[in-house]
Amino acid sequence: MKIWAVANQKGGVGKTTTAVTLGGLLAGKGHKTLLVDMDPHGSLSAYFGFDPDDMSDSIYNFFQAVSNNSKIDPDPVVRDTRVTNLHLMPASMALATLDRQLAIRKGTGLVMIKALREVKEKFEYVLIDCPPVLGILMINALAACERLLIPVQTEFLAQKGLERMMKTLSMVQSSGQEALPCLIIPTMYDRRTRASNDSWTALRENYPQDIWTSTIPVDTGFRDASKTGLPLPMLRPRARGAIAYEKLLQDLLEPEKTVVELQARAS
Ligand SMILES: Nc1ncnc2c1ncn2[C@@H]1O[C@H](COP(=O)(O)OP(=O)(O)OP(=O)(O)O)[C@@H](O)[C@H]1O
Ligand SMILES: [Mg+2]
Repeated sequence: MKIWAVANQKGGVGKTTTAVTLGGLLAGKGHKTLLVDMDPHGSLSAYFGFDPDDMSDSIYNFFQAVSNNSKIDPDPVVRDTRVTNLHLMPASMALATLDRQLAIRKGTGLVMIKALREVKEKFEYVLIDCPPVLGILMINALAACERLLIPVQTEFLAQKGLERMMKTLSMVQSSGQEALPCLIIPTMYDRRTRASNDSWTALRENYPQDIWTSTIPVDTGFRDASKTGLPLPMLRPRARGAIAYEKLLQDLLEPEKTVVELQARAS
């Protein structure tokens, strides 16, 4: 099971859209995929028709179980979506209270690692959608994932949020621990605007190691898709935005292919 988290401390940069679209593409290729909504606002849950204000079972269950020393039970939390192979662990409003409740308790940063361990036979891919703030939820996502995707809106001041995210990353990673591989994904790119082009150039200059070589374009299809409860590739596979995320997914899967190929060559 591969676990990828989507995070950026800046709001509205395309985190939820990235999780939904990559999740849809993976499911469309036949991979059993789990989306995890770690944002108390629950945009990811709402995308698939679940109301975060009215969820009896959500990832909040896991935090409760750990603080009560009871067993984590993922079964009532995992829901189906309208898409075959695509499942969801929804958020609930109660998550917003976690930082106050749990800040000082030990082990609360490892709740999601424990919860995802319980479903590791069921899913091939897990995509965690993070809230735009640093807190116990983001800490859990960063601890649980093996790869971090950082969508950055190509606009004026885009770098500010990214700098904060990078600082957070180095703060939460203890020394001696292997650095978490991360990929910066320029989003909402509009090649006609100066702001988009300047910002993309600056990102490539400042983060040459971590930047994705391409961009996700502005596409109003994402907003239309969010009203239907289907990821854009399921609704309009030829949309510019869907094609861009398909290329992103190919690039994300590439290293795995290389390892498999190398293994095949070696045997
Ligand atoms: N490439 C794109 N082109 C046009 N609109 C987009 C694109 N990506 C996302 N959007 C739209 O921008 C809005 C914000 O996107 P999204 O919810 O994915 O951001 P977010 O980073 O998850 O926000 P938050 O920090 O509030 O959770 C949504 O209405 C979404 O449909
Ligand atoms: Mg979001």
